[in-house]
Amino acid sequence: MTEESSFRGQITLDGPSGTGKSSVARDVARKLGAAYLDTGAMYRAATVAALDAGVSLEDKVAVTRAVSEATIRVGTNARRELVTVDGVDVRERIRGAEVTRAVSPVSAVPAVRRLLVARQRELVAEADAVVVEGRDIGTVVLPEATLKIYLTAAPEVRAQRRAGQLGVTAPEKIAALAADLRRRDEHDSRRADSPLRPADDAVVVDSTDLTRAAVVDRIVDLARSAVGAGERS
Ligand code: DC
Repeated sequence: MTEESSFRGQITLDGPSGTGKSSVARDVARKLGAAYLDTGAMYRAATVAALDAGVSLEDKVAVTRAVSEATIRVGTNARRELVTVDGVDVRERIRGAEVTRAVSPVSAVPAVRRLLVARQRELVAEADAVVVEGRDIGTVVLPEATLKIYLTAAPEVRAQRRAGQLGVTAPEKIAALAADLRRRDEHDSRRADSPLRPADDAVVVDSTDLTRAAVVDRIVDLARSAVGAGERS
């Protein structure tokens, strides 16, 4: 994979879960020689902090306190994942069922979002070139980003992909995954604070019939055009 170091700016990559967003974001960052920030990993790490504090996830004040008292670190190197909570490596734990079930209520707490959004902006400011993945990056976190992408795919395709990642083949388990995806999407789209939706100026990319490589190439091309347009203006 060739590294292009000419890209300077911010690419936001938003969309629901199961679209291949993380793999695409990482590949785009590597191709452009850019940093990569997985904001979902930040909400997942915050969820670990809330779970370990033993607070009720309904108690917004207690959840916020638990998150603000924890030391959460998420790295920005596209080639090396780093996620720690109070110095403990939680890279595997944050992808597990316990955290996946609990992350929607935690990420819906406005004070938690304010804490993490401030941290996201700090991390982005440290990079000349960065790909930032999440749900509200183009709409809320970086409204002035160089290029905004909203990645979607049909729900059945998303459930199949998730099943492939988890090694699940039983039809009833795939149906359960699809139901879980829909439940999380609905929760993320309906929440009052920063709901999941494309920014008005986002390029919507539907990956239903595209390979991951094709999606990556499309975004890299758009990034190069966006920089070219910026230089000309
Ligand atoms: O992308 P992911 O599945 O790792 O995200 C985990 C959860 O965090 C998901 O339910 C939505 C939430 N999230 C969010 O609310 N805002 C973001 N910028 C990123 C993720």
